[in-house]
Amino acid sequence: MIDRLWSKRGKASPQEAELPSGENVPQHVAIIMDGNGRWAQNRGLPRIAGHHTGMKAVKKVTMAADRAGVKYLTLYAFSTENWKRPKTEVDFLMRLPQEFLALELEELIENNVQVRMMGYREHLPSYTIEALEEAIEKTRQNTGLVLNFALNYGSRAEMADAVRAIAREAAEGKLDPERIDESLFESRLLSSDLPDPDLLIRTSGELRLSNFMLWQLAYSELYFTDVYWPSFTEEQFQEAIIEYQRRGRRFGGLS
Ligand code: FPP
Repeated sequence: MIDRLWSKRGKASPQEAELPSGENVPQHVAIIMDGNGRWAQNRGLPRIAGHHTGMKAVKKVTMAADRAGVKYLTLYAFSTENWKRPKTEVDFLMRLPQEFLALELEELIENNVQVRMMGYREHLPSYTIEALEEAIEKTRQNTGLVLNFALNYGSRAEMADAVRAIAREAAEGKLDPERIDESLFESRLLSSDLPDPDLLIRTSGELRLSNFMLWQLAYSELYFTDVYWPSFTEEQFQEAIIEYQRRGRRFGGLS
């Protein structure tokens, strides 16, 4: 059983002492949770064991983000390209939201976390959708951390869909093409109700974006660590936040 480790910010804990002040905390952190397979392989375990331990890291990092004062946490749990994996692995991954929420939903609710999903519902098994919808519904009114699962998500598909919707409206005479600007485009993305990520973390040493939030990450700070996702700890999450706080963001301007 996963320990009940949640502690509200303000309560003393050894980890909190290592965090810098609550100033300049990234509002939105997005994470590419990579390295589950290699974590398992290194231990002579099947890949799914890595995904299962990765699920436990989701809990720890959600708590860490909440304690650090992050408002939005987006986790890349399954991409539109991950369907290419063996069926047994895909089936296992599809069961994880259900298992995670069965274990953690009550505690997420107690901690005022709001669960969301960003991705295509098509092709997802009904049990996956039902578990997520129950969590979304039960946490809709919560005002704390937004825990956003990117599930069956792909950034190119998201942008192509946005372009298609805009083009259709223009062709039907409902939209003047002169009105198409960045904010109109953003309003048609799956992330339309989220601010852009301030910080992107990718675990496992891979240095790429893998079709994740390509538009939204335009000015995000990027943080790569060699640690495999199942081994990623609260302290390592805090290190990423501290590194973010050291960076100077200029958004193309001057500091
Ligand atoms: C990438 O590692 C990871 C995934 C494709 C799945 C990520 C899913 C989780 C961490 C669990 C999600 C939990 C919930 C609650 C939804 P990889 O398999 O590509 O690793 P590798 O590159 O070492 O093979």
